[in-house]
Amino acid sequence: SDIEKGTYPHFMLKEIDEQPFVMRNIIQKYQNEDGGLRIDADIREAVKTSDRIYIIAAGTSYHAGLVGKQLVEKLANRPVEVHISSEFLYNMPLLSENPLFIFISQSGETADSRGVLVEVKKQGHKALTITNVPGSTLSREADFTLHTYAGPEIAVASTKAYTAQIAVFAILAVDVARSAGIELDFDPLQELGIVANAMEVLTAQKEEMEKVARDFLSVTRNAFFIGRAADYFVVVEGALKLKEISYIQAEGFAGGELKHGTIALIEEGTPVFALATQEHVNLSIRGNAQEVEARGAHVCTISMEGMNEPEDQIVLPRVHEHLTALASVIPMQLISYYAALHRECDVDKPRNLAKSVTVE
Ligand code: G6P
Repeated sequence: SDIEKGTYPHFMLKEIDEQPFVMRNIIQKYQNEDGGLRIDADIREAVKTSDRIYIIAAGTSYHAGLVGKQLVEKLANRPVEVHISSEFLYNMPLLSENPLFIFISQSGETADSRGVLVEVKKQGHKALTITNVPGSTLSREADFTLHTYAGPEIAVASTKAYTAQIAVFAILAVDVARSAGIELDFDPLQELGIVANAMEVLTAQKEEMEKVARDFLSVTRNAFFIGRAADYFVVVEGALKLKEISYIQAEGFAGGELKHGTIALIEEGTPVFALATQEHVNLSIRGNAQEVEARGAHVCTISMEGMNEPEDQIVLPRVHEHLTALASVIPMQLISYYAALHRECDVDKPRNLAKSVTVE
């Protein structure tokens, strides 16, 4: 392809490092001359007039949707459901009176998602596509498009597209909230700027991340990721990253759910990554970490500055509580990258996977 790796050994590492620039690019693209948000009035209206949003996506984009739902519900006060595209038509929920469908797709070409788009358009519903490729099939066939401006993503495992999708959701949610007269104590462009700086700090900690990968993942066949509240939606993405490129069997769990079955898999030395960025669940996620530690797990804690304990392996610079996913996913991407590297896996082109899956 025309895109070069430059001095990077892999596209994935390059794309991880690009995330601060992607955030700044998004800030610029979505900023009006007057400092307000640049969102087309018809997109704003479509969100405002719908009584329920249905997010449809696959893989990493689905995980971004889980975070997007929280942003739209918390900031814009609109109900949102998130569905896996390949299942949606089989297990179709009862739709609200005036639904809006939001498709999230890095490539804009995922056949499972397109299948849903074709069907809901046939039923006369409105659709918005959030994509990294305007002009893609999902973009052309939807009524509206929002561009994630992440630049071409080459590595099969998605990194910068995920954080870009979440950033765009934050902007859309605030735009809708403002136009609905909801008073917010949250300036998305300013907070994304803080996120960009935090990402820069984290992507500079490659040696630390490599060490964590070596200490926790060099011999194991499985790993668990736990988080509560907003962190739960990020640990499922962390586990997916690790699975995709290192072939370590990994699962993301809600901190409180592990004990209801999966804790049976914890053995001496089983790696468990605990994510703690949410003040209101800090004590309970740490309790969950102790439960698995007592059963022999090797716990690596990733916490947010201000909530950190001396023994935590990774401490994230503080970002706004609505945007913690954008910081906490970075160490998970890097740890997965180094775990795959140590195991001599083909990082950019993992076995059995394709960048975009155009068959159902
Ligand atoms: C493929 C890729 C994943 C990606 C998913 C959805 O399975 O391997 O990395 O998350 O498709 O792709 P999309 O382009 O729709 O975001």
